[in-house]
Amino acid sequence: MGASVKSRQESVVARIEQLRKEIREHDERYYVQAQPTISDEEYDRLLRELAKLEEEFPQFRTPDSPTQRVGGQVTKEFPTVVHEVPMLSLANTYSEEEVRDFDRRIRSALGGPYRYVCELKVDGVAVSLLYRDGVLVRGATRGDGTQGDDITVNIRTIRSVPLRLRTTRNGIRNAEVRGEVFMTREDFQRMNREREAAGERTFVNPRNSTAGTLKLQDSALVARRPLQFIAYYLRADGNVLKSHYENLGILKDLGFRVSEHTRLCGNVDEVVQYWKEWESRREELPYDIDGVVVKIDALAQQEELGAIAKSPRWAIAFKFAARRQETVLRSIILQVGRVGTVTPVADLEPVFVGGTTVSRATLHNEDYIRDLDIRPGDVVVVEKGGDVIPKVSGVVLEKRKPGTKPFSMPSLCPECGSKIFRPADEANFYCVNTECPAQVRARIEHFAQRGAMDIEGLGEAAVDQLVEKGFLKNYADLYSLRRRSGDLEKLERWGKKSVANLLESIEQSKQRPFSRVLFALGIRHVGAGVAQLLARNLRSMDALLEANFDDLQRIQGIGPQIAESVLRFVADRHNRALIERLRRAGLTFEEKTTAAGLFGLSGKTFVLTGTLESLSRSEAKERIEERGGHVASSVSKNTDYVVVGREPGSKLERARRLGVAVLTESDFLAMINNSSQ
Ligand code: IVH
Repeated sequence: MGASVKSRQESVVARIEQLRKEIREHDERYYVQAQPTISDEEYDRLLRELAKLEEEFPQFRTPDSPTQRVGGQVTKEFPTVVHEVPMLSLANTYSEEEVRDFDRRIRSALGGPYRYVCELKVDGVAVSLLYRDGVLVRGATRGDGTQGDDITVNIRTIRSVPLRLRTTRNGIRNAEVRGEVFMTREDFQRMNREREAAGERTFVNPRNSTAGTLKLQDSALVARRPLQFIAYYLRADGNVLKSHYENLGILKDLGFRVSEHTRLCGNVDEVVQYWKEWESRREELPYDIDGVVVKIDALAQQEELGAIAKSPRWAIAFKFAARRQETVLRSIILQVGRVGTVTPVADLEPVFVGGTTVSRATLHNEDYIRDLDIRPGDVVVVEKGGDVIPKVSGVVLEKRKPGTKPFSMPSLCPECGSKIFRPADEANFYCVNTECPAQVRARIEHFAQRGAMDIEGLGEAAVDQLVEKGFLKNYADLYSLRRRSGDLEKLERWGKKSVANLLESIEQSKQRPFSRVLFALGIRHVGAGVAQLLARNLRSMDALLEANFDDLQRIQGIGPQIAESVLRFVADRHNRALIERLRRAGLTFEEKTTAAGLFGLSGKTFVLTGTLESLSRSEAKERIEERGGHVASSVSKNTDYVVVGREPGSKLERARRLGVAVLTESDFLAMINNSSQ
């Protein structure tokens, strides 16, 4: 080799080294510390220069070069690897009591003083990283805890995983690092939007998509997915390590990202406090957590406590009540609503999610089912969001059994066998038969419900029975039931007393205000709030029956869609006849609200928390706003009232702390009823 070639090569090596060092520093600033110091363009220039040199001089290529992050290697099957130290899993607890039990066990086993380290339990995928001589040589999944898959090629593409350790301060060169690979919610949503636009299948949630990505055979694809890594465990050669908390500091020095929310706790009360704090603050984080992890800090004490079966005695997962859960979709049933809407509903294997057992969840419509490819027999994800209405948010495709068939809407109504149809511009199907028993039942149930005529003793089962036995064909029939009380008493599950109670409740319903009567009629698009607007502005049923399109549209809050719907309803001969029968029965057909009562909540600020029994969040909001009040999302000293439903969140605690007035649901109902009548 000539001297000039040699010196050229030496300068190439030097440049390559220089570039790698710089890129590594920038990677760490960007992906670990989130404090970049150069622009994306400058960074790309460095990376391109390095890639070009490595292409020209392949002999200088190394697996720890930053160019290796773009992937490219395709693996047919990942080799199985045996973990040097088994990857244990954690025992789960959900209650303060169980955590206090855990602490009692620790105390009696250790005898002496101890400290806890509390960490967030990131909802991702656990991986193990092996470093030899400071270089990442293997990345593996947990697998069954004893052996997992060697996914090194995929792990290398994750920018927050150092390909080479920063060993200057601690001298650690051989180590195992464990942690969680995850995706932020925002990255997950962006990725799903892109996939949707490209006509590709979307993922159910960030954790699923992380797990799916790590198993991809083409590492170039993995490189394009927004995976991140947070480290929570270090094992290193020699016996230098003493405390888990210190280890987290060392991990940071080695170039890993560690959570900034970790806390040292001196006792179990502080642990419970940490859990409570993060239960209410979890939404603030850009990624999902499903609880906190509590670990004994001193490694010697960890060793002393040891493990039972597959979990250590020195750590525990203190989980939050899941808002998302997997379960089996037994079948898709169709529900026919009062205006004939045929809605697909998921019949689920009961599952505990967000604090209640869920066995039914809406599937919205045909398009929703088709887009997510939801099939009967699938394992699906059930989610309860802030509005606490359970939804099926996706399918766990990896768990799909062979032989499942895509769902298609039938062409006939499951209730009455009439044709069902889907108007061109709508997502819903409708049953054409207005006398469809399902529609009849739904209209009567709607009429009798609490926010409407509030007829006690007329729940779903009773309505079903009375319709089936021919006592009720429509809601006006309720007011002639008295004549048939003798026959009623003979029905199964009925007796003198219950019939008398029902008739009394029907009698009382005649006192309900006009706005409730309007709502009870079941006019499409006329909810409780719109009914109040109509009642206050038109002031009588006669005015409503005579109103034209302009009269209706002139009312603030009434648009063309509502106006048309009202006109269509009152133009119908059957509906007219029903209204006349209700008039003869003596229902309230005139508005009695005084202007003074209208804005009884003027200027008041409300915050809602928990589930209300008799109305949805949006209805509650509507009622408050109609009365001049305002709904805020968080409690402050400017809040006038906090309305508390079932399973209130941290807002209740905050209200108590700030001394804000707390209303139960019935206090609230009394307040809104008083301020409108
Ligand atoms: S420690 C023996 N710390 O939770 C200790 N795990 O079953 C093992 N996880 O598989 C894990 N955040 O996927 C630990 N800060 C954290 C964690 C964490 C999430 C996951 C991990 C593990 C599972 C526990």
